[in-house]
Amino acid sequence: MHNKINQLERILVTDSLKNEALVTEEEYFKLYSQSIDDPEGFWGEMGQCLNWIKPWSKVKKTSYYKPIEINWFQGGQLNASINCIDRHLIDKKDKVALIWEPDNPNVPSRKITYSELSFEVNKFANVLKKLGVQKGDRVSLYMPMIPETAFAMLACSRIGAIHSLIFAGFSPESIRDRLIDSHSRVIITSDLGYRGGKELPLKNNVDKAIQGLSFVETVLVVNYDHTPHDCKDKEVCFWKLHGTVSCVCEPVAMDSSDPLFILYTSGSTGKPKGVLHGTGGYLVYASVTHKYIFNYKGDEIYWCSADLGWVTGHTYILYGPLLNGGTTLLFEGVPHYPDSSRFWQVVDKHHVEIFYTAPTAIRALMREGDEYVEKTKRTSLKILGSVGEPINPEAWLWYYQKVGNSNCPVLDTWWQTETGGILIAPLPGATSLKPGSATRPFFGIKPALLTPEGKVIPGVGEGVLVLEDSWPGQMLTVYGNQERFEETYFSAFPGYYFTGDGCRRDDEGYYWITGRVDDVINVSGHRLGTAEIESALVAHDKVAEAAVVGIQHDIKGQGIYAYVTLKKGETYSESLKQELIQWVRSKIGPLATPEFIHWAKGLPKTRSGKIMRRILRKIAEGEWEQLGDITTLSDPQVIPALKLEKRNKLSF
Ligand code: WT7
Repeated sequence: MHNKINQLERILVTDSLKNEALVTEEEYFKLYSQSIDDPEGFWGEMGQCLNWIKPWSKVKKTSYYKPIEINWFQGGQLNASINCIDRHLIDKKDKVALIWEPDNPNVPSRKITYSELSFEVNKFANVLKKLGVQKGDRVSLYMPMIPETAFAMLACSRIGAIHSLIFAGFSPESIRDRLIDSHSRVIITSDLGYRGGKELPLKNNVDKAIQGLSFVETVLVVNYDHTPHDCKDKEVCFWKLHGTVSCVCEPVAMDSSDPLFILYTSGSTGKPKGVLHGTGGYLVYASVTHKYIFNYKGDEIYWCSADLGWVTGHTYILYGPLLNGGTTLLFEGVPHYPDSSRFWQVVDKHHVEIFYTAPTAIRALMREGDEYVEKTKRTSLKILGSVGEPINPEAWLWYYQKVGNSNCPVLDTWWQTETGGILIAPLPGATSLKPGSATRPFFGIKPALLTPEGKVIPGVGEGVLVLEDSWPGQMLTVYGNQERFEETYFSAFPGYYFTGDGCRRDDEGYYWITGRVDDVINVSGHRLGTAEIESALVAHDKVAEAAVVGIQHDIKGQGIYAYVTLKKGETYSESLKQELIQWVRSKIGPLATPEFIHWAKGLPKTRSGKIMRRILRKIAEGEWEQLGDITTLSDPQVIPALKLEKRNKLSF
């Protein structure tokens, strides 16, 4: 096939951008060395990209040894909303800050200028103040992808409240867990939202989530169509208050290390943890990475198709582009609605120059056929980005050739909720690309590969990806649980930040992320802990035990494969499988829908009772012959039984 390519072949796509590139390859190497040799000097200079109310006294005060400390721009004071809005009012007040493209293409899009953004964010901030929200309070948001969600985030930042977004696909129980952990007295929601033509029952889910939670005082309801809301119980109508409050709200000076937001993410154990990001370091990193990685000069129409409820939405829909005085597109819809041309129609409609999406979307669209792409122009496109999971070279090439007409660099950007911004990615015009590789580290990032025993692998090799030193976007702590922060990220390999990813480095120093090495799975770019899904399953009356592993999936990257043992006397039936699938959806959310339930009368365990997931992964993939050492199993007889069940019931 013509587009099969040796994974190590370079693509020199710098030509299309050469004259416009912010940095050349040579400059990249120079700046990179500076950033590593003198992080304080480098980031001190980069920190000037923001307006500071009070200058910092120390750029970097961080330690990866106990007591772990992440402190950037210490002593400095600033406000996120001043940096995203007020300072642009001088010369960009009539420039479009936000383009909103609704789910339904027949509904008009909205264009919000910087001065309109200022008006709305100030008003929203005054609404929050009226509800008694103060600096340091946590405010949860369970919202559709509408401009008001962005206004609410910026409004929180204006008054020093900590926003905590809960993705609109999460179930009431997941909302509830997050409300309890963050102890939010206020939750902002909408009566409904839309996705792919379907209505999202947002407020209904909030109603269920807050039952019996006495600390939740207010449900602020932002009706989707701007109509007044008929309030009951704890509800307050946003649009009614909107009409009464002033459009001037004084911003609060925040310390650089004051929290900006919490975002819950899954790990290999327990419930999702509240990743806490600070103000100064996070914002500097959001601005600088957005500028250099997307070659953003300020006037391009930029579209990141993520949801605001994930970190990609925080950093690269909202904060990064607005800090850089740009125009950012907020898309409410999905790639397949009304049909598989939608992304490219939106690109043409709004003349999008920079487009950033996830491999799962690219793979799904690739499968639909080229005609959906070919009937659109896409001539405005200059740069394409990818994030969330490894992008396979086939999908990379399709994106590059079909979507970008072999004329736009494809940036594979590797990062995590915890990292706040992109850590490994090419710079357009400076880095030659290799399909499937996230290429080189960004300024200030020192990746290292370790053996499982913690020995450094120099040069070419494959191992566990760690980072040797802090960068400004790094999370500050796990909300309310510094111990869990230290344990999760700094205990496996003392002195390093542990990413949870495996990675290979080639002979040119390029990084190739190979996927998670812990019990985290990545389904369509959504991160889930196997432990979370297991505890949802065992919460069912009939389930005795469950073990979940990830299985390769053509579109989603990984799918959820659940082994389930029922309690004594329960009947293993097809209808119960369906019931359990629905059960997990209702406990966590549709994003956690198991692909397969595998009835397991017994699970492979060590003599000390530990489930051997390595074996379960192999059986799930049908790799019969390579089970490895099974002599430590307490009951080897479970293996043939599992194989039999797999052969009989699950054919691919
Ligand atoms: C995990 C983080 C960062 C925003 C979206 C996901 C995987 C992310 C890539 C990439 C290979 C990637 C990693 C990482 N991942 N980007 N370009 N190539 N893997 O954030 O939900 O915190 O998930 O996503 O496994 O650890 P997240």
